[in-house]
Amino acid sequence: MLPRKIVIDCDPGIDDALAIVLAHGSPDLEILGITTVGGNVDLAGTTDNALRLREFLGFADVPIAAGSAGALLRPRVNAAEVHGASGLGGALLPPATLPVTGGHAVDFIIETLRADPGEVTLVAIGPLTNVALAVLKEPRIVDWARGLTILGGSYTRGNFSPAAEFNIAADPEAAAIVFGAGWTVTMIGLDVSRSAVTTEAVADRMRAMGRLGADLLIPCVEFYGVITADGGPAIHDACAVAYLIDPSLITVEPAVVDVETAGRFTSGMTVTDFRLGGRTPNALVGTSLDTGRFWDLLLATYAQVARTIEDQSPDLARLPSPSS
Ligand code: RIB
Ligand code: CA
Repeated sequence: MLPRKIVIDCDPGIDDALAIVLAHGSPDLEILGITTVGGNVDLAGTTDNALRLREFLGFADVPIAAGSAGALLRPRVNAAEVHGASGLGGALLPPATLPVTGGHAVDFIIETLRADPGEVTLVAIGPLTNVALAVLKEPRIVDWARGLTILGGSYTRGNFSPAAEFNIAADPEAAAIVFGAGWTVTMIGLDVSRSAVTTEAVADRMRAMGRLGADLLIPCVEFYGVITADGGPAIHDACAVAYLIDPSLITVEPAVVDVETAGRFTSGMTVTDFRLGGRTPNALVGTSLDTGRFWDLLLATYAQVARTIEDQSPDLARLPSPSS
């Protein structure tokens, strides 16, 4: 099977970073490009993080285009308290030496989908501003895209507010445009991703992954939350990528999803109706995660990426650790 072609729209972001490692390491995916949006930290930060990740992981040939700094209508928000001022927690990757690709993320998304109709899946793991602007600028992308899979929303509890998940709440008008555009959105929400917790056993496996573990995975997850024997920070964004690698990991059900944009307490809520009532579903909504196989996939893929990094920088790998 040829790898699935994807464009990742993201706001790195700790879990964005771990999703990008997964996508890069998977033989089942081919990253055609990464586009950035303001979200967890500002656009300059999310873009710098994407550039640093690209060189640290070794996919310098993949274009990175910067997009929207903020939402269509709402004041900017961020999640620096969760992801750290840099956006990558305690990770300090080497500064990027290669620049962003010229052009705006919205145009990159449109032109990449136009060039390969039916073949490219858009994976949006940040606020949906870039995706909404792409739909408004070129509505035909809903036909050109092989699909749109997002990490976002929730049909139960929110994390930005009692009712809303961060990516949707950051730009509810954009999300409403995206869910109303005519394609079927695969919505991997908190209902699924809350289960993707980084336990002590998972972290121990990451600790044995050389520079990938020491310089990225561990400084990220240890910042992201408290790691215990049976709990820890949830790697939300990786769930959206994992679904594209192995759809059997996540159960999805058709639903009609409306995005609340006017509610005083519910702005950004993804109002999810599984009843349909004769209406055409505009979404496939994730309802459960096979957590064991999810982590089997991530850790096996991460281990392969780790080996590649060690092979590419053998001298660094043999350097004594600072404490020794
Ligand atoms: O609610 C989780 C989502 O918000 C993730 O994409 C995380 O990176 C933040 O953007
Ligand atoms: Ca994100």
